[in-house]
Amino acid sequence: MRISSKMKKALNDQVAMESAASNSYLAMASWCQITGYHGAAKYFFAQSSEERDHMLKIVQYLNDIGANAVIPAVKAPVASYKSLEGVIKTALKNEQSVTKAIHKIVELSHKEKDHCSYAFLEWFVNEQVQEESKFEDILQKFDLLGRDKLAVNEIDKFLASTAGADESAAA
Ligand SMILES: [Fe+2]
Ligand SMILES: [Fe+2]
Repeated sequence: MRISSKMKKALNDQVAMESAASNSYLAMASWCQITGYHGAAKYFFAQSSEERDHMLKIVQYLNDIGANAVIPAVKAPVASYKSLEGVIKTALKNEQSVTKAIHKIVELSHKEKDHCSYAFLEWFVNEQVQEESKFEDILQKFDLLGRDKLAVNEIDKFLASTAGADESAAA
């Protein structure tokens, strides 16, 4: 194993966090679909699979360096929301805690002079900047367009048009 046991634990905790994020976005997608927000449902289904990809990236890294990834148990996510804006607010909060967690692991890699993990984590640092700004932009739309049915419908349409945009940009 080329990383410390502390780093191994931190990265495995991050596997669990990305898995929880994937699961949480799946529950949001499902809620949006049932509620009739089909654009937002499409958006969150794509977001859920993005988070699964993040999890897989870390699993792959851990196994590549002989640190053995641990696949976590799945906890039941929040399944019901009051509004689409509430969903987006929760999503932004989730991303903010992921950013904090990633920064902590980066600090650990720095402290331990673990250059491999430091380089590996760089992608996640940049990704989190994108993730937070994405949800901030959507939240801002509620202030700009309003919260009545027509405005929320516009936001739903906007979400449909941007669903999975990250993946196609990365491809
Ligand atoms: Fe993620
Ligand atoms: Fe994310």
